[in-house]
Amino acid sequence: MKDIVFATNNAHKLKELREIAAGKLNVLSLNDIGCHDDIPETASTIEGNAKIKADYIKQHYGYDCFADDTGLEVAALDGAPGVYSARYAGNDCISEHNIDLLLHNLEGVDNRSAQFRTCIALRQGDDIRLFEGIVKGTILTERRGTGGFGYDSVFVPDEADGRSFAQMSDDEKNAISHRGRATQLLMHYLLDQRQ
Ligand code: IMP
Repeated sequence: MKDIVFATNNAHKLKELREIAAGKLNVLSLNDIGCHDDIPETASTIEGNAKIKADYIKQHYGYDCFADDTGLEVAALDGAPGVYSARYAGNDCISEHNIDLLLHNLEGVDNRSAQFRTCIALRQGDDIRLFEGIVKGTILTERRGTGGFGYDSVFVPDEADGRSFAQMSDDEKNAISHRGRATQLLMHYLLDQRQ
């Protein structure tokens, strides 16, 4: 089976990918290859950060690799928090602070349209390729639901039944989510290569 590195140590993301790739690709984590580096995420775009991470692993560890980066893009805020979604309320902040700031910045705003966007960069040899997944929805005026993570409790996807991501099971969310979609595109590409 071919080895490929997923530039993450996020257990949830690894489990998801390994289930999809089971028996077809051997998905290694950063821990698996002995990488404990603080990989810089200094780009000003989501795709830029995904590329930086994939390039870093290829250059320093020699493995073919893919890396993801995600942002919440809010129309009324000109696409913010976008690439800064993890640290919207400041470096080392927690998700609850990010949500508080988002709701504050949208107080009295009628246009609540937003989207989650994930970019996955795949680096194989000198080749670099991007896969994108988007889910469109709206931002609530207050939190709803207790599941998920990040901004899930204030995001309602257009194509579901009015529940927020935090009110859905993992399977329900993965079926329509930004990351689920980008991951499916990546896996189709990688599995096609094996034929
Ligand atoms: P990352 O690039 O996957 O680390 O995502 C960056 C930030 O976007 C996270 O820290 C979360 O705040 C937010 N985010 C990413 N994916 C999701 C999601 O599926 N639901 C809610 N928030 C998310």
